[in-house]
Amino acid sequence: MSQLPIHSGFSKLSREEKIALLPLGNDSKNLLAQALLSNDAIANLIDQLSENMVSHFTLPMGIAPNIWINGKHYFVPLVTEESSVVAAIAKAARFWADFGGFHAIVTGTEKKGQVHFFWKGEKSLLERKLPDIKDFIMLRVNPISNQMAKRGGGITSIALDDLTTDLPYYYQLNVSFETVDAMGANFINSCLEAMKKALNQFASCDSEMDASLMDINMAILSNYTPHCKAVASVSCPVDALNSYGKNLGTNNLAERMVQAVQIAQINVDRAVTHNKGIYNGIDALAIATGNDWRALEAGGHAYAARNGKYTSLSTAKIENSIFSMELELPLAVGTVGGITNLHPMSKLAMEILGNPNATELMQLMVVTGLASNFSALLALTSTGIQKGHMKMHLSNILLQLKASSEQIIQAEYFFKDKTVSFSDVEKFLSTT
Ligand code: MEV
Repeated sequence: MSQLPIHSGFSKLSREEKIALLPLGNDSKNLLAQALLSNDAIANLIDQLSENMVSHFTLPMGIAPNIWINGKHYFVPLVTEESSVVAAIAKAARFWADFGGFHAIVTGTEKKGQVHFFWKGEKSLLERKLPDIKDFIMLRVNPISNQMAKRGGGITSIALDDLTTDLPYYYQLNVSFETVDAMGANFINSCLEAMKKALNQFASCDSEMDASLMDINMAILSNYTPHCKAVASVSCPVDALNSYGKNLGTNNLAERMVQAVQIAQINVDRAVTHNKGIYNGIDALAIATGNDWRALEAGGHAYAARNGKYTSLSTAKIENSIFSMELELPLAVGTVGGITNLHPMSKLAMEILGNPNATELMQLMVVTGLASNFSALLALTSTGIQKGHMKMHLSNILLQLKASSEQIIQAEYFFKDKTVSFSDVEKFLSTT
């Protein structure tokens, strides 16, 4: 567990100083600096990303420094409206940098999609015809999958699933894909729609099959990707975490954090909020890099319930006086395609990360999830989260009430050890 170099005091730097530290060329630095002040440079492009556009909705992009993963340093760009998320991840990164940083691996990259259909004929006929159906389908899908195959991906298997015990006559062609650095939604859906058409044609052409007994309902990818997964882990001596906790008024922080995870493992009320905290980090990086955070959330929460009961996505334990935490979850992300290479801000975010491939981005995302979870548990089992949140809450209220810079300094001092409410801040400002 080696101590890694860190950038201390990053949060105290001015915006210009922060940008100056990022691993970007001068043009990118200028674009990043301008983007916050005016969207003009990127407006035309963004206008075209959605329909019925009337305006743009801007969110802050923050940086979590000091994130070390497998011995490599990252500045991680995070886009979120929740003010404490960036600070929480930065805090976790700072802590773990003293213990070798984060470790992350990708354990699989398989994505799936299905052709859902009803078949009122004999199941045995369907099974007997399956090899011919596959050949027929693959021949028709090859023109779509050729390009992906050249990049090392494509369709890796087609299976027939009998789901008739749950829904009469219902079967699916369960198709596995490798999409390399693309998230692959368009590719997968194009293949599946071609397969749907081909299956229909096969049923109509084959002398033994009666097409009137087949009704293909739909063809679509699945956002449940339990075999496209990454794992992040951290560990440190129990004493190190406990002595960190002493400054927060807690004697046995490590044990308390393990208990907090155990609570989330057995209690769904807690598990949902616990996992929400994990997605605070993952979503922020997904948005920054132009990835589909709804798909990631859907797949992750389904994975949290994979054994029939919704539970914590992370685990924590103490063994031989070593505290360790692990997070494993599905992450179907891409670094090519989608808006990642289109939206100027996600292009910059990718550049800040050193233009990772999809596997590396999966590692980065699982780490932001673990960092976010670690900091949430650390705060919850010691001081509580409101202390940190209230500081941010105060600055939002001051912003809303258009406080002058002098009033902001006075208010920050006045509310240092007080509970913050909108009316109290309003009252305070009226007296200054
Ligand atoms: C708030 O956005 C996230 C937390 O509620 C997560 C958690 O409770 O673990 C702090």
